[in-house]
Amino acid sequence: MAETLSKVSKVVLITGCSSGIGRATALRLASNGHRVVATARKASDLAELEAAGCDVLALDVTDEASMVAAVRTVEAKYGAVGVLVNNAGYSQSGAIEAVPLDRVRRQFETNVFGLVRLTQLVLPGMRRQGFGRVINLSSMGGKLTFPGGGYYHATKHAVEAISDALRFEVQGFGIKVVLIEPGLIRTGFSEAAVGSMGANTTDDVYGEFHEAVAKATKESYETGPLARMAGTPDDVAAAIERAITATTPRARYTVSASATVLLTQRKLLSDRVWDWFLGTNFPVPGAAEKRRAART
Ligand SMILES: NC(=O)c1ccc[n+]([C@@H]2O[C@H](COP(=O)([O-])OP(=O)(O)OC[C@H]3O[C@@H](n4cnc5c(N)ncnc54)[C@H](OP(=O)(O)O)[C@@H]3O)[C@@H](O)[C@H]2O)c1
Repeated sequence: MAETLSKVSKVVLITGCSSGIGRATALRLASNGHRVVATARKASDLAELEAAGCDVLALDVTDEASMVAAVRTVEAKYGAVGVLVNNAGYSQSGAIEAVPLDRVRRQFETNVFGLVRLTQLVLPGMRRQGFGRVINLSSMGGKLTFPGGGYYHATKHAVEAISDALRFEVQGFGIKVVLIEPGLIRTGFSEAAVGSMGANTTDDVYGEFHEAVAKATKESYETGPLARMAGTPDDVAAAIERAITATTPRARYTVSASATVLLTQRKLLSDRVWDWFLGTNFPVPGAAEKRRAART
């Protein structure tokens, strides 16, 4: 039986709460008095959030039945999902030629199609009650692209486009759509990105490049100059809370100094100068062999 059918539900459903930004967001919102449904692929990862006062549910954004069941459960208890935070996501790193296509598809299934499908499932409830917020975790990587991260960036560029369209389409129903664009945030994200590199093919051609991408990724989060501009999961959680509580939220919230600096740099530089800048950080695949061949 719905707990609050006559009232507007503001319950917040968050995906990917087993770690990082999702976990920090669930903790912050619950401790500030929001009603939170924290979800993860394995509900056993959510004991701490349950103890912190969250409702917890298993939810895999690549599994239709799991998404339908989670939305039904929330609607039966609260009437509607009031706020959806589409947070679940990961990076698949590697050169465009080298990442097996089934891995590319899996990346889009989680970061894009899961986000879209869950949004489709909660919108009818939001429309019925004339209120809703959809908060989509994009990235500074939705507006710029690093070599070796092409597929991850493609998913975030897709999230940007989908959110821009959706924001216009649902505003008349009382639903607001907000993009969160974090820069470097210290979570398990970078380890997953580096770890995913092991699945790549054509290492005879891209081996040195993949090693450099792995090293640059690790350094930018841990030791390099960018690491000093990295943010924490709670910085992102605070931006998400602003997006939920502001009467008129902005369309986008950038999080961390790394995002501000790199997005400004990308905006100011021409494509040619940007590519030169990337060349100071990553080796150009094939170039060393070409130089060696020219010397012999
Ligand atoms: N950290 C950064 O620098 C950064 C920057 C910009 C944007 N972001 C974005 O922020 C979001 C959260 O990332 P994070 O940094 O917090 O990384 P994280 O600590 O690795 O967390 C990722 C979360 O996504 C979940 N997930 C993965 N596949 C899933 C699926 N099929 N169904 C449900 N959940 C799934 C993971 O759950 P499991 O434990 O079950 O795998 C985990 O809870 C992502 O969308 C990411 O792209 C992160």
